[in-house]
Order: sequence, then structure tokens, then C-alpha cells
Amino acid sequence: MGWPGMDLPGELSLRKENRSECKWKQPSRIYPLATFEDAEKGSGGKILPMKRILFFSFTFLLIVTACNQQYATPTLAPVPTLFVTDTPAPPTSTPLPEFTPTSFPSMKLQRGINMGDMLEAPNEGDWGLTVQEEYFDLIKEVGFDFVRLPVNWKAHTTRTGQDDGDMGYTIEPDFFARVDEVVDGALKRNLSVIIDFHHYEDLMADPNLNQFWFLWKQIAEHYRDYPSQVLFELANEPHGQMTAALWNKYIIAGMEAVRETNPTRDVIIGPVQWNAYDWVTTLDIPDDPHVIVTFHYYEPFSFTHQGAEWVEGSTLWLSTSWGESEEHKRILTQHFDLVADWAQRHNVRILLGEFGAYSKAPQESRIRWTEFVRSEAERHGFAWAYWEFASGFGVYDPEAKVWREELIKALIP
Ligand code: BGC
Repeated sequence: MGWPGMDLPGELSLRKENRSECKWKQPSRIYPLATFEDAEKGSGGKILPMKRILFFSFTFLLIVTACNQQYATPTLAPVPTLFVTDTPAPPTSTPLPEFTPTSFPSMKLQRGINMGDMLEAPNEGDWGLTVQEEYFDLIKEVGFDFVRLPVNWKAHTTRTGQDDGDMGYTIEPDFFARVDEVVDGALKRNLSVIIDFHHYEDLMADPNLNQFWFLWKQIAEHYRDYPSQVLFELANEPHGQMTAALWNKYIIAGMEAVRETNPTRDVIIGPVQWNAYDWVTTLDIPDDPHVIVTFHYYEPFSFTHQGAEWVEGSTLWLSTSWGESEEHKRILTQHFDLVADWAQRHNVRILLGEFGAYSKAPQESRIRWTEFVRSEAERHGFAWAYWEFASGFGVYDPEAKVWREELIKALIP
């Protein structure tokens, strides 16, 4: 669906799915871009990953059997069905009845903030921010009730296995200790915490079910005794080779890894295509009352990502405004209606896990958009988490040590 008045140059990158190759080009970020690109090139498209997955899935099954169930075996789907490499057509947008809030399963979470650019960097601090315990005081005092913690687990693994690495990645104890410290800091202030698996680019470039399962097994075991205020999110914004059908298999494996040790912890899953709202319909929701579905909202992308250094061509979008026309609001509402309608039919809770407009967007429009997205999320019964606390979309200025007044009011009036 088009946004009136936004037929701008650079149309190509209007959705996140079109920009995987340039997503990490923030100058302040030292993300190993080459690794991701090389992995994609090296995979030769589909054939190499397919062979690898076949080989390692088979090897994994053998090892597990041989080890006499030393690790609980995830019920892997028959191997060939894992290889759905064609991206299915986007879900059809059939006209939906007008949304009327009804009996939504209730949410413990309500208003949250993403601790972006901190533990999601390859090393905490690489992107200019580290988690300070005092942040949680501020966050609690201003009225948020939870934080979403993007964590780059994969960057903190040591390869210890003998099986070409599929199962051999062990999360470093020091890193666990640091994440614990942060999680404890939030819990102490009575903030719930979503532990999110962020920037798992290897998984998107060359999916590896056994590795995914094994990493989640470790995380789940580690946090098994934590209170229910700690939630898990299986993967941020699946994309690339992670197609909808394939991702549904990974969800099954991830859930099994978690459920072995955390039978009732809330687990968050979001759809492929960078968690786009209109892809929630492709999710096979596990038959489990402790699942929450998430989506991210950055529409229109040419508005929210104008001038974003890591989105090629986005300077052409500078000065794009939003929301002077009622039509803009109507479109956004329709998007949320689609998610809410689907959620009601599936009786599942929804988290709008990320939304935000970059600081280079015209301020008036930025505030209007943020306020409208937040209030529509609440009207639709979604919990929400703003992207993000103190970086390029930030609602808090870490140098001046003040909240950005208009923005915080748009979130918490
Ligand atoms: C990414 C961030 C990015 C944001 C907005 C998040 O999911 O992890 O790096 O800045 O989306 O594009």
C-alpha cells in the first residue's frame, strides 16, 4: 500500500527487506560487514547451505543417538523439509473488518524501551554506549515497565566443538556474567527484561539449526531459575536465507531448547522480513500459552530512516514529513488492524517490539508519528518497546543527561 506524497527517489529501499546489504553501515559501528557478505557469497546462493545443513543435520542426529541422549534431542522435522529456500509471496492483504478491541489475552508488559547499541554491539562500548545501572532508575522513574535487551550472543561464543562448529559454540562465561549483571540491574528496579538474540547474522546468511538450538539451550539453562519477569526472544528480525517456512522449523527447535528447562517462561517470536507487520500471518504459532508474537514498525521507511547513515540513498529522503494528511494515519491504523485481527483469531498476545523515527526526521513529524504509533499500539492492545534509549533514535540524551522532552511525552504522556 502506498503512502500518499512519498513517491521519493530511492524507492528501492522502502522496506527493510530491501536493505540487508547496507543495514550495518553506521559509521560508528565496527560491525564485521565483510564476514556477512563473504558468507553470502561463499554460500553460492542456496546449494552450499543446503548441503551443509543436510550434512550437519544428519551428523547431529548421529551424534545425539551415539551419545545416548546426552543432549535432549530437538524433534527435528524430516531434513528435506528444512530447505524451503524460495521466499514465499507476501501475504495477501484481504480487506479486514474494522478492529474493535475485544478479549485480548492480557499482557504483563506494557511500555518498554530498547537498550539499543549496547550489548548488541560486537563488544559492549564499540558503538559508543555501555549499559549504566543508573539508566534503569531513569527508565523506571519515567514510567516504563520493561526493557528489551538486544544481545549479540553469537559474538561472544568460543568454538569448542569438533564438528565443524555447528554444535561447538559455547557462550563465554564472562559474557554471561555481564549480561546477568545487566538483567539483575533491571530486575532490581522491578523492570521486566526481554533477553533478545540480536545480530545473529550467521543464522540469516547460512542457517544452521543445530547451532541455533544449542545456543538457545545454553541461554535457557543459564536463566532457568530467573523469575518470570525475564522473557526470551528467539531472534531479532529474521531475514536473508531465513524464509518463512524455514523460520517456522527454527521456532520449533528454539522452543524445544527453551522448554526443556523453562516450561512456562514467555517466549517471543516474530516473523521473517525483518519482523514486518504483514508477515505475522506466515508464523505457525506453537501450541503454547506462553508465546508472544512480535512485530517491528518503521513505516513509511523513507520517513523513519531518512538520513540514516546505514541506509544507502536515505539522504534523498531528508525533509520527508508525516501525518499532515489524515490518510497517513488511516494507513497506519489499517496496518495495526491487520495484526490485531490476526492476533485475535489466534488468541495470541502482541508486542510491538521496535518502532522509532531517526533523529534526522523533521521534529514535528517525528513526534506526531511516535505519538500516533504508540497510542495506536495501546488502542490495539499491543505492548510496545520504543527503539531506542540513547543513540540515533534516542529518547534520552546521555551527554546532557536529560530526557528528550517532546519525545518522552509522545511515549509517556
Ligand atoms: C537494529 C538496529 C537498527 C534499528 C532501526 C534494529 O532492529 O538492530 O541496528 O538501528 O533496527 O533500523
